[in-house]
Amino acid sequence: MVDVKNIVVIGVGLMGNGIAQVALMAKYNVTIVDVKQEFIDKGIASIEGGLKRLEAKGKLVTADVMSGLKTSLDLASAVKDADYIVEAVVEKMDVKKNIFKTCDENAPPHCVIASNTSTMSITEMATATNRADKCIGMHFFNPVPLMRLVEVIAGEKSSEESMEIGIKVSESLPCLRGDRYIAKVLKDKPGFIVNRLNAPVSIYSNYLLDTCLEKGIPFESLDADYESKGPMSPLVLADYVGIDTSYHGQNYYAETLSEEFSPGKVITNMYKEGKLGRKTGQGFYDWSKGRPQPDFSKISKAGLVDLDIRLAIRLNEGCRILEEGIASGWKIIDDANMAGMNAAGPFERGIENYENYVKKLGAIAEKIGSTYLKPCELFRSGKFVDMK
Ligand code: CAA
Ligand code: NAD
Repeated sequence: MVDVKNIVVIGVGLMGNGIAQVALMAKYNVTIVDVKQEFIDKGIASIEGGLKRLEAKGKLVTADVMSGLKTSLDLASAVKDADYIVEAVVEKMDVKKNIFKTCDENAPPHCVIASNTSTMSITEMATATNRADKCIGMHFFNPVPLMRLVEVIAGEKSSEESMEIGIKVSESLPCLRGDRYIAKVLKDKPGFIVNRLNAPVSIYSNYLLDTCLEKGIPFESLDADYESKGPMSPLVLADYVGIDTSYHGQNYYAETLSEEFSPGKVITNMYKEGKLGRKTGQGFYDWSKGRPQPDFSKISKAGLVDLDIRLAIRLNEGCRILEEGIASGWKIIDDANMAGMNAAGPFERGIENYENYVKKLGAIAEKIGSTYLKPCELFRSGKFVDMK
């Protein structure tokens, strides 16, 4: 197996800078590539910012770790000595395919090309290359240094060896909150495991957001409805991830899973107005002074959300993941959700009363006219219970 020493990270935005930081901490030689010097400079500042926090705790010396970093604005020359490439640019298939092509034409034959895509087909990206066996998915969760999960995804032609290299590299990258949890994704299907599990919640939340827009209800009231028990309320998290990533992801699901995933009016308007959340300083919330901390005890509720429906939607989608053979059992799905989002997966909580959730989901699907949300066969039958 190839001994990976040189890693190239393409796109040094929110995800790329986290990936580069942990790769440097693991003592790889890391080259970051972006399209403008100002993006490289911003990426370097973020990487240094993360390392300095650790330096302040006596855990490392920033300058030593940074000595492993190179930068480039020229992809073709940057990948000349690469053993392993992680692409982390915008969630658009044509852009990613162009990058895969350039990497294939310029990187050494042994080099593995991995994409950090949130949703998209690795098999399709690989068609832009003559090394489909060496193309894989390597899906990190945001923020990379703190979230334990990496999903390693096999495209239709990925070799076992490339998957093993991807898993080995993933395991070697430090996580500041415990050991990395590597989920091997068995089928190259939109959204893989964790994003797919949570994706259809967007059909419900687009309906709720557009209802708020129609009725003049402030969005933060909708957030207050969720009585968030997870680490971030849903709309803070949407801003944190980036409205552009959600918008592109929903469009991709609309093309590949069901038209019902098409972004609603609210998300589309925000995308078009550049209100992308944390990365532009404004989304559902104002991020100009750092992470918003809404005090939901002081915000009136919209009274629109039924939390059981959210759980039912995720239970149903988890069953589809099992039906489609993307993961081998529901415990992996729950564990991956915890490792990737610091929040409980749906099965452990939902199994006992699943018949109840099947009924609730059927009713809401009817109410909002959704075919996709109707309970699938595996969910209705309860046969998933034994597929641990
Ligand atoms: N380098 C070094 N240290 C860092 C660091 C970095 N880059 N970033 C943070 N830290 C340190 C901080 O200094 C802090 O240290 P102390 O505890 O010593 O003060 C510690 O790590 C914790 O940092 P925060 O205080 O900022 O963290 P928090 O406790 O407020 O938690 C969070 C932040 C982990 C993001 C938490 O809010 C959370 O889990 N939110 C949910 C995030 C989530 O769901 N992510 C997945 C999104 S979906 C996705 O990513 C997939 C996709 O394809 C879209
Ligand atoms: P971002 O917009 O913060 O960063 C993307 C970077 O890529 C930018 O700096 C941009 O200048 C650069 N870029 C664009 N085209 C390029 C090219 N041709 N060559 C080199 N660099 C180029 O995006 P992000 O949020 O970090 O997302 C990046 C990828 O990671 C997307 O595929 C996204 O779906 C995925 N992802 C995002 C998250 C998240 O929470 N934001 C989580 C997991 C995966």
